[in-house]
Amino acid sequence: MSGTGSEVPAVRGLWTSRVAFILAATGSAVGLGNIWRFPYVTGENGGGAFVFIYIACVFLIGIPIMMAEVMLGRRAQRNPIDTMRDLAIQEQQSARWAWVGRMGIAAGFLILSYYSVVAGWILAYIPRMLGSVFHGMDAIEVESVFTALISDPERLIAWHTIFMVATVAIVARGVEHGLEKAVRYMMPALFGILVVLFLYVLTLDSFVDGLKFMFIPDFSKFRGESILAAMGMAFFSLSLGMGAIMMYGSYLPKGASIARTTIVVAMSDTVVALMAGLVIFPIVFANNMEPAQGAGLVFTTLPLAFNSLPMGALIGTLFFVLLAFAAITSAISLLEPPVAWLVENKHWDRAQAARLCGGVVWLLGLGTVFSFNLWADYKWTQKLDLGKVQFLLWENKTFFNIVEFLTANVMLPLGGLLIALFAAHLMKRESCEDELALDNHHFNLWYFILRFIAPVAVVIIFLHTIGVFNMLGLID
Ligand code: TRP
Repeated sequence: MSGTGSEVPAVRGLWTSRVAFILAATGSAVGLGNIWRFPYVTGENGGGAFVFIYIACVFLIGIPIMMAEVMLGRRAQRNPIDTMRDLAIQEQQSARWAWVGRMGIAAGFLILSYYSVVAGWILAYIPRMLGSVFHGMDAIEVESVFTALISDPERLIAWHTIFMVATVAIVARGVEHGLEKAVRYMMPALFGILVVLFLYVLTLDSFVDGLKFMFIPDFSKFRGESILAAMGMAFFSLSLGMGAIMMYGSYLPKGASIARTTIVVAMSDTVVALMAGLVIFPIVFANNMEPAQGAGLVFTTLPLAFNSLPMGALIGTLFFVLLAFAAITSAISLLEPPVAWLVENKHWDRAQAARLCGGVVWLLGLGTVFSFNLWADYKWTQKLDLGKVQFLLWENKTFFNIVEFLTANVMLPLGGLLIALFAAHLMKRESCEDELALDNHHFNLWYFILRFIAPVAVVIIFLHTIGVFNMLGLID
């Protein structure tokens, strides 16, 4: 991929092709969100109904907003803060729109802080798989290995540090270098192992139970906040709402079709998440495990599957190595916006900017590390007092739970909502038409969804969660 062409400012790279952009954006989208977070949040929210709403959110909210993010980024060719400001000024709107970029960058810091800790768990599993630590273990024993890992803050900090150092090193050199190979070969390989695991779970008696759990809605297990969680999952998994995709869009050459590239990225992401769920849940049911056990779900189920496979230790090692790469290609997209802002706007040295941002993220990550051990007993409950409605924002959540909730379920959808409102209501229609270069029919479809369906859906889901419908007596 290119470094510094003469037609672009010296600090900026450009993807050399549409394919390079697809690879980078897929690298951002596909990560721990698909393989760690999607199965565990699905488990906590009862399965089928959650999956159904998640898929609806991907199509009605995610894809249209993703197109909007890419479009804004490519139009302004800047980092998210300056993109929002420049475009707002161009369209005679308030420069305060830059706050969307700022909130996105804050969300990115917070997300990466726990993302890196979980990526550390993945790294910690590589030597354990390689050394056949799980060989012959049953579910209880595998769980005890995981519990031992997360109860040890020193080990967690060590792995978290390794992951952050690697992320900073890549971002410091500029996102283009090496990224393409990591995505082009490793993502298909990761998917290949998922397929192998899928073929294995097909042989389990519990496969049907897993399938039913994932695709037959059971609204009795559906909790009030499940709808919000499903929407948050769609944003998180597609890397939306914080400017990562906007950033990558700013590196997309003019002339590449935004709609087609976006759909390829979103579909690949969704397929990988569903595949991961289809692999995990049959294993859960075969071993009488708890689907709602929380963030440890893949770490306690997958080793059991690799135990049953021929050459399981080898395939398992490879799987965790590939997953670590998938995590890093996502992590760099979280760190790139603040770094690009410091480089482009404050004229910092790229490496220095990457180190500073990485340091802040590392510190924040300690909160997540301690949430599983030293601070495990500190749990907060927070009420939101809106006069007539008292809404329970969260109950009994650790620091990690709170940061995860606030970022995925609040900041990302809010960022996405503002991006949709800006692109669809404040930008001139001609600016959008010009940038997307779609035929009339497809443009109108996208424009309609982005103007009316996506923002209304986000607002309704927020209001529903806060209980406003309850208050108005609209539902019981
Ligand atoms: N989408 C990534 C995953 O599924 C995580 C991620 C990368 C992300 N960049 C993001 C999430 C930006 C939200 C916003 O693992």
